[in-house]
Amino acid sequence: KKIVLAYSGGLDTSAIIPWLKENYGCEVVAFAADVGQGDEELEGLHDKAIASGASECYIVDLKEEFVSEYIFPTVTTGAIYEGEYLLGTSMARPVIAKAQVEIARKVGADALCHGCTGKGNDQVRFESTFAALAPDLTVIAPWREWDMVSREDLLAYLAERDIKTTASATKIYSRDANAWHISHEGGELEDPWQEPTKQVWTMTVDPEEAPDTPERITLSFNEGKLTHVNDEALSPYQALVKLNTLAAAHGVGRIDIVENRLVGMKSRGCYETPGGTVLMKAYKALETMVLDKAAIKYREQIGLEFSHVMYDGRWFTAINDALLAGAASFAQKVTGDIVVKLYKGQATVTQRRSPNSLYSEDFATFGADDVYDQKHAEGFIRLFSLSSRIEALKNQHR
Ligand code: ARG
Ligand code: SIN
Repeated sequence: KKIVLAYSGGLDTSAIIPWLKENYGCEVVAFAADVGQGDEELEGLHDKAIASGASECYIVDLKEEFVSEYIFPTVTTGAIYEGEYLLGTSMARPVIAKAQVEIARKVGADALCHGCTGKGNDQVRFESTFAALAPDLTVIAPWREWDMVSREDLLAYLAERDIKTTASATKIYSRDANAWHISHEGGELEDPWQEPTKQVWTMTVDPEEAPDTPERITLSFNEGKLTHVNDEALSPYQALVKLNTLAAAHGVGRIDIVENRLVGMKSRGCYETPGGTVLMKAYKALETMVLDKAAIKYREQIGLEFSHVMYDGRWFTAINDALLAGAASFAQKVTGDIVVKLYKGQATVTQRRSPNSLYSEDFATFGADDVYDQKHAEGFIRLFSLSSRIEALKNQHR
């Protein structure tokens, strides 16, 4: 019997390893995904997993796949959950869970395990992916089974078994980091009337302390894909890293929200998505140049729908594929350059150009033009509002 555990090196998943061995009497294979969470989290991970009792530890680099196959396609849909959340954690779950299933196949495992609590969204996202890709494998979610409830419980559990850990009893926030964002929940944030303290934020400069001089950056897109930042050709992941560095220095991308979890309760979270905030603004600005009114309206509907599909962990579904196909069709036209100004927490689009631009100064000008006959507007408005006229006339003669 073999279990593949989605392992992060944190206290929870460290305790899960001995717990699985004792309660399921099986071999535990640790699996960690590199989705751009940073070197501190990944350092020494292999040895840590073995020290906690794992028989093997696989660390899989998913950075480029995550950005090019999950993040960029999501950007083309314009999805923003409940008008604010840029879905950083949501997007990472399917790519991690898919790689976990691949490791399980490779080592011939019978079960998959994760360290998500029974109260959150992440359990749903992991297990929905498992359901779609490995319906034959057993799923184990220790947080829904064991009766440990606190970090003290977990530390005591490890101490009893002589397993060393560098984790401390006090860890204020629950955080989740990847190439796109970092999320912060728990601690004082659990009180929605409490302003986040400075120690919440880890990825961006405090906008109040950001440079007094704005910085302009150019994003270049080809058929919906970000290809260059400031004229430098970059891979999807590298482009995002560069945007993060530039935007974080100006305090761009912080939000503080209350959101609806899929499992019913509301939760309060702070998120930092510096590069992503710039990318989504720039993408949207370029879309406004190349898509007409009906296309923009439909793309907005795709984005709204997709935000829920993504948040709810429904990546490996038919609705996901259909929405992405629709967005990809619009994205074919999204080629061109956007300049974004970064200044004290704000990202403002200031310049846009595209070979596919439908914007025409000849038509839009407030000056004299010879392409548009204003007299044509009269007939258009007569017919466009005809139904209102008919109804109003009828009411007058009643
Ligand atoms: N509330 C966000 C979401 O559902 C962030 C979840 C963070 N997850 C975590 N394991 N800390 O996408
Ligand atoms: C968790 O409960 O494991 C993290 C929060 C979430 O999944 O929403």
